Amino acid sequence: MSSSPTPPSDPTTLNRLYGRAKGHKLRAGQQALVDDFLPQVAVPEGPLDARTLFGDDRPLEFEIGFGAGEHLAYQAGLHPDHGFIGCEPFVNGVVGALMHIRDEGLSNVRIHMGDALDALSRLPDGSLDRVYLLHPDPWPKARHAKRRMMNPGPLDMIAAKLKPGGEFRFGTDHPIYCRWAMMQMDKRRDFIWQAKNAQDFLVRPDDWPQTRYERKARTVFGHDVWYFRYIRV
Ligand SMILES: C[S@@+](CC[C@H](N)C(=O)[O-])C[C@H]1O[C@@H](n2cnc3c(N)ncnc32)[C@H](O)[C@@H]1O
Repeated sequence: MSSSPTPPSDPTTLNRLYGRAKGHKLRAGQQALVDDFLPQVAVPEGPLDARTLFGDDRPLEFEIGFGAGEHLAYQAGLHPDHGFIGCEPFVNGVVGALMHIRDEGLSNVRIHMGDALDALSRLPDGSLDRVYLLHPDPWPKARHAKRRMMNPGPLDMIAAKLKPGGEFRFGTDHPIYCRWAMMQMDKRRDFIWQAKNAQDFLVRPDDWPQTRYERKARTVFGHDVWYFRYIRV
């Protein structure tokens, strides 16, 4: 494992976030969670590794844009001996994750309220067992395609931070994004797609819980959802 972090070559910056610019105003209890509880579980400034975050050398998993935190909390509960780093810039989503952490007693989660690529860039190369990118903002217009997470810059960074044999999970309900992502991944030699047949990407794996976002995509909008699992070479 190398200890020199790879800097972002094409970061997805937060001033280019898709859709919402501002969330709902926080209720008093939610604000108290942000003020009092977030500092206890927040990712610190500076270089990061398992020891800095959790005090030991446990395996690390990383979620980009966790939304309301349901998937992050599920995985953290499933792997209590792993450390989880969840990143999400929207405070309303962060509040959701904080409620899961508190209510489910999850001591193995750290939260970065901001750009995932900032936290990712501060980890040592080859340090992550898994990276999750579930329903990234679609940026459906062709002229905005460079802002998608599934682009060479962010993907180079994800590849650099995963251990050989580590897993990258990506899911989307957006057909334009799905096609784009498959084209991006098809060009790469550093990931091996795990699908052997269509069922492998059309059926949600047992350990891949449905988030509220995904349920709405299926039930309200009638979307299909595609599930991709790649192994880092
Ligand atoms: C469509 S939502 C999906 C949320 C969640 N992954 C799910 O499946 O329910 C995309 C999320 O990515 C977050 N996001 C966008 N750009 C990001 C970035 N650079 N770093 C971290 N999160 C980001 C957004 O704030 C938003 O919550």
